[in-house]
Amino acid sequence: MRRDIVIGNWKMKINQQSAQALVDEIIAGIPDVDADLAVCPPYLYIPEVGQRLAGTRIGLGAQNIATHLEGAYTGEIAAPMLKEFLCKYALVGHSERRANYADTDETVAMRFQQAIDADIIPVLAIGELLEEREQGVTFDVVARQLNAVIDFSGIENFQNAIIAYEPVWAIGTGLTASAEQAQEVHLYIRQLLADKNQRIAENIQIIYGGSVKPQNAEALFAMPDIDGALVGGDSLKADSFLKIYSSFQK
Ligand code: 13P
Repeated sequence: MRRDIVIGNWKMKINQQSAQALVDEIIAGIPDVDADLAVCPPYLYIPEVGQRLAGTRIGLGAQNIATHLEGAYTGEIAAPMLKEFLCKYALVGHSERRANYADTDETVAMRFQQAIDADIIPVLAIGELLEEREQGVTFDVVARQLNAVIDFSGIENFQNAIIAYEPVWAIGTGLTASAEQAQEVHLYIRQLLADKNQRIAENIQIIYGGSVKPQNAEALFAMPDIDGALVGGDSLKADSFLKIYSSFQK
């Protein structure tokens, strides 16, 4: 059976002191829920947050990962560096990176592969823009983004990956896809994978991101193909983040 997981993406919305306080609060308050939990701090805070997480069951992730293993790539952080600091996960292809830092289907696929090669679980973010949803091409967009990575890396590598469906129009806007809207796309994603490999499709965690809050988490998690959440804003408040995590229990 698939395990559920909640991952916090702190984005660039925290400083050193508040990162320390937040992780300590999460550790102190983590309820006894049979699901995984992880946080993705900004790169700079990974060592310190990782030290605090040592010995807990909370996983550590990065918000991005370099396209190459090593070399003249000023400003980039390579997969083996993240591995040295015990990152278990790396976000790959977040829409903010696609929109603002020129990430393409191809570079996203390269990042995915770097994570796999370093034994880091890539959390592959895919999702449509508002105008794409309005044009009725949501499934086409999601299929294109996903197939680009499958073609580059091979379906077998999805055995060690997570997919995050994040409709861009729901990120940081307070608009959430309804549980039914999200479920429809999650099911589509799972079927696309099942056409290539049934076992991988059944086992892969497909999580939802986009204004996930304690108020909507329960309905989202009740859907058969939603295996958790990638949380932005509400992952910066320990109380809300842990309430979202506790929503699996209900
Ligand atoms: P919000 O939860 O702030 O909408 O952000 C979602 C997100 O981008 C997580 O990666």
